[in-house]
This record gives sequence, C-alpha cells and structure tokens, in this order.
Amino acid sequence: MNLLDIIKGRRSIRKYQSREVEQEKIEKILEAAQWAPSASNRQPWHFIVIRDPETRKKLGAIHSHGRFMKESPVVIAVLGDPEAHEKYFLCDPHQAIQNLMLMAHWLELGTCWMGVRGTSFEPKMKTLLGVPDSLHLICTISLGYPNEERTKTRKALSEIVSWERYGQRK
Ligand SMILES: Cc1cc2nc3c(=O)[nH]c(=O)nc-3n(C[C@H](O)[C@H](O)[C@H](O)COP(=O)(O)O)c2cc1C
Repeated sequence: MNLLDIIKGRRSIRKYQSREVEQEKIEKILEAAQWAPSASNRQPWHFIVIRDPETRKKLGAIHSHGRFMKESPVVIAVLGDPEAHEKYFLCDPHQAIQNLMLMAHWLELGTCWMGVRGTSFEPKMKTLLGVPDSLHLICTISLGYPNEERTKTRKALSEIVSWERYGQRK
C-alpha cells in the first residue's frame, strides 16, 4: 500500500472481532503517535492503554456515542497537558492521534476517535481512569480487528481549496 492508499483507506470502525490485539502492534501504534510533530518539541501528551473489559464497559456506558468501546478489545485514551504547552496542548495530541490511527490501519486494525474534552462526561471518565485534574481527556480511541467494512466520501478538493487567495479557483 502506498501512503495515499493508507490515508484514504482508513475508516472509522465501530464493530470489532473479539480477537485480541498483539502487544507488539499496540506498541508500534504508540510509537507512531510518539513521533508526531510537536510545538517546541514539548510533547504535551499522554496515552492510557485500556484492555480491562470492565473499564471498557464503563467507558462505553458513559460515552453517548461510544458504546462500542465495550466490544473493541483495546481503548486508548489520549490526554493533553497544558503545563507542558499552554498553547498547543490540544493541537499536538491531535497530530499524534492521526499518526496512531494511520499506523493501526496499516497494521490491519480498525480505530474510531471519540471526542471527550469539553463534554459533560469528561470529569466522570477522568475519575474512572485516574487522570489528574491538570490534564485534559481529549478523546478515547477504540482499537481492534475490524468486523465491518465502511465507505465514506469527502468534499471535492475544488470545494475546499483556494489557490493564492481565498475563493480563487485553479
Ligand atoms: C474530533 C472527532 C470526534 C469524533 N467523535 C466521534 C464519536 O464520539 N463517536 C463516533 O462514533 N465517531 C466519532 N468520530 C468519527 C467521525 O464520525 C468520522 O471520522 C467521520 O464520520 C468520517 O468517517 P471516517 O473516519 O470513516 O472517514 C469523531 C471524529 C473526530 C475527528
């Protein structure tokens, strides 16, 4: 697969096989996240890997659009640390998340990003995962072998790109 095929082939997966995810694959995925670009290289991120079925069940019950965390064999929670970078504590983890999802797809695993930060249930999830007050729980990501195939389209490039000045077509 070339890089564009990997990028275009990734889909949000919400149905998973029960098959466990190999530890080596999880560590490769985390390594991909670790190497995302980071403002001043402060790396204001932290990742919690959750395999425990009870915790995943609770996460799925708390998140209004993430019930399938109960079925995905792994969930990764992504945290942002404003003490490490007060301006880019969200931006940098978002880049790490994209790396993580693309690496997972390349390893034939599915993921789905579930936004958490700023929701009414962020505090409850933080308590469940023992996250210190000073950190933000940006999202949870389900991870596992896919049990569905999905298709999606995107807006045409001509709709989202200007050349030289806003609104100017090629
Ligand atoms: C910031 C963000 C928050 C998201 N939150 C959820 C969510 O709570 N539940 C969910 O099922 N999908 C969630 N998604 C996945 C989007 O629905 C999905 O990326 C979009 O429909 C495009 O589909 P694709 O990822 O298969 O291309 C989220 C994606 C992003 C980027």
